[in-house]
Amino acid sequence: MKAVVLCGGEGTRLRPFTFTQAKHLLPVAGRPVVEHALGAVRGAGIRDVAIVVSPSVEGQFRERLGDGARLGLHLSYVLQPEPKGLAHAVLCAEEYVGDEPFLVYLGDNLLEKGVTGVVDLFRSREPSAAVALCPVEDPRRFGVAVIEGGRLVRLVEKPKDPPSDLAIVGAYVFTPVLFQAAREVKPSFRGELELTDCLQWLVDHGHPVLPSPVDGWWQDVGRPEDLLAANRLLLGQVEPRVEGQADGDSMIEGPVVIERGVQVSGSRVSGPAFIGAGAVVERSTVGPHVAIGPRAVVRRAAIARAIVMDEARIEGVALQDSVIGRRAAVRGGRVAVQTWLGDDGEVRVEP
Ligand code: G1P
Repeated sequence: MKAVVLCGGEGTRLRPFTFTQAKHLLPVAGRPVVEHALGAVRGAGIRDVAIVVSPSVEGQFRERLGDGARLGLHLSYVLQPEPKGLAHAVLCAEEYVGDEPFLVYLGDNLLEKGVTGVVDLFRSREPSAAVALCPVEDPRRFGVAVIEGGRLVRLVEKPKDPPSDLAIVGAYVFTPVLFQAAREVKPSFRGELELTDCLQWLVDHGHPVLPSPVDGWWQDVGRPEDLLAANRLLLGQVEPRVEGQADGDSMIEGPVVIERGVQVSGSRVSGPAFIGAGAVVERSTVGPHVAIGPRAVVRRAAIARAIVMDEARIEGVALQDSVIGRRAAVRGGRVAVQTWLGDDGEVRVEP
């Protein structure tokens, strides 16, 4: 089975970060969002993966992920010339997929247990499609599904009046009949070709579509606060490893990753936390739920529940519940909370 991982969309709700970096390449728990998704694809036993991207960010993906060898995958890149919806993105990959069943995974959806459940269900029951589903409090933000007699009977995208509380999680396995559906459905209220409408088309044309309940947490990454939520959940799964240096005046507690070349001095690092290669942490407290990017500098600071990207500088300030872009600087000052600072931004907090 091949996989198609969708990484389109402009990520407008993740500005300012997406002004300069593709949404799926933003770091969570020390790795780009999409690498977590690709790890899940590999975990389901799939090696051949096409990433569907918009031409404007293709270069960023190729630079970061290359041919996928580092991740144990054979990666191909498929371009979606215009953002015309998820079903349109899948259509762009039709030639790549050929005539075998395939996994479609939205590259900004993270699942505690990965995509093995939906893939195994498809393999054992061989329906026309299998769809991961998860009960949610506010289904209006999602595609919503209704199950009857063990099959899906109704699927609606972003309903005002949801017919159930079962949200469509971004992981599906399809047979190639999906391509026929994608050619026949009409653009939705938001002007896009929806996978949800393709699923309804399959049901209406007598093709069995089966539900695959999600076990464990599900987190999609649409807004800065979602980045922090995903960071917290994924840091909770890290395998502790210390490759860098911590001096005798430092204390490291709980599950912590300290990559090579890191210098921690006179500091306390409380896991779960991640400190990327070559970062410097001096006279600071870091954690819990903090991911510091490669070559970032943290001095006389206290950081909790935050993502600090590559080469950023956090100096003399308490930083909480914040996302700080590459090479950006926060200096000061007392406490900075919920600061969403894009690449190269600077903030000085009043002392
Ligand atoms: C998309 C799908 C929706 C699904 C959601 C999961 O929505 O259209 O059916 O529930 O992903 O994250 P979008 O993120 O494009 O609004």
